Amino acid sequence: MTTTATTDHASTTESVAPTEGATYAAALERSRILDDLIDERAANDPTRFRMLTGDRPTGPLHIGHYLASLRNRVRLQDKGAETFVVIADYQVITDRDAVGDLGANVQGLVLDYLAAGLDPARTTIFTHSAVPALGQLMLPFLSLVTDAELRRNPTVKDELSLSGERPLSGLLLTYPVHQAADILFCHSRIVPVGRDQLPHLEQTRAIARRFNSRYAAGHSVFAEPEALLGEVPLLLGTDGTKMAKSKGNVINLRDTADETAARIRLARTDSERHITFEPERRPQVANLLTIAGLFLGRSPSSLAAEVGAGGAQALKQLVTDAVNDSLAGHRARRQDLARDPAYVREVLREGNARANEIAERTLATVRAVMGMSY
Ligand code: TRP
Repeated sequence: MTTTATTDHASTTESVAPTEGATYAAALERSRILDDLIDERAANDPTRFRMLTGDRPTGPLHIGHYLASLRNRVRLQDKGAETFVVIADYQVITDRDAVGDLGANVQGLVLDYLAAGLDPARTTIFTHSAVPALGQLMLPFLSLVTDAELRRNPTVKDELSLSGERPLSGLLLTYPVHQAADILFCHSRIVPVGRDQLPHLEQTRAIARRFNSRYAAGHSVFAEPEALLGEVPLLLGTDGTKMAKSKGNVINLRDTADETAARIRLARTDSERHITFEPERRPQVANLLTIAGLFLGRSPSSLAAEVGAGGAQALKQLVTDAVNDSLAGHRARRQDLARDPAYVREVLREGNARANEIAERTLATVRAVMGMSY
């Protein structure tokens, strides 16, 4: 599973593979195999399956986050993986001037994590800004990458083009290296991510390899982590376009049942009465069927067959019930937890303390192998 260190340096022409179809297919295949291995190995050696993933605290989590990622984190935690979740506050400033209400956003994330079933006894929840050693680990890592390699990163390029006329900031260019520190500081082996994050994983793997070969004489200080891709299809907003807070087409986890119903009532469908599942020809109807299917654990086409002549109205009722029934427990737990902000702060304080302890230990190792313990 792990590639051994070779003479692979940033100064050579080795490049980080772009996220092409073949790379994606291979990553998806590896993800399936890993998922099976977790069951087998967790019993013997849980640290083998340390898992880290994270979110940017830019606003509330929506059903897309829940279906594609949050549910899966809880599932892996419950399988026995030791879980780390980074609230990536320094990534908020990669492409915008203002951070927004970071305090509220961070608290909102923790509430959703806990309500979804992440258990602070088994999962370390922490923020970038509370772990100074992450920034320091980034320095040797930066020495292992070239600016050409960073400029080629497809995700960074996309983010730059989405940020309009903004020039490329040093932080946007280098945040994949900071993200490598997120992943490597705790020796995470598994990183559940969406497809857009694969270039960062490749970059992280290259940094781990190069660190071992350049600074550690080939010893494995850092193991190469693996991406664990979810298999949830890309979900659209209720208007059939990309989900975005600014478009008002999002159903947030914290929304009430009534707000959810109102949002789905306004969802765009099409003029054909009979409901069918045809993602290419009828993307909006297909999207609603997909959302209901994911919540109900059913295939979208079987739901389409059931709704059939009931039309858009029956479809919307089905989706509303699926979302509201499935999230009722989550929302109730979230509300209870929100009444106890001191507890939420305590979870974060303990998570930050644990992340600091591990990060400082890793930094001490890094200094030692680099001959920098004076
Ligand atoms: N870049 C990720 C996102 O935008 C968030 C993130 C930060 C992350 N650090 C991470 C994801 C480490 C996985 C591993 O969603």
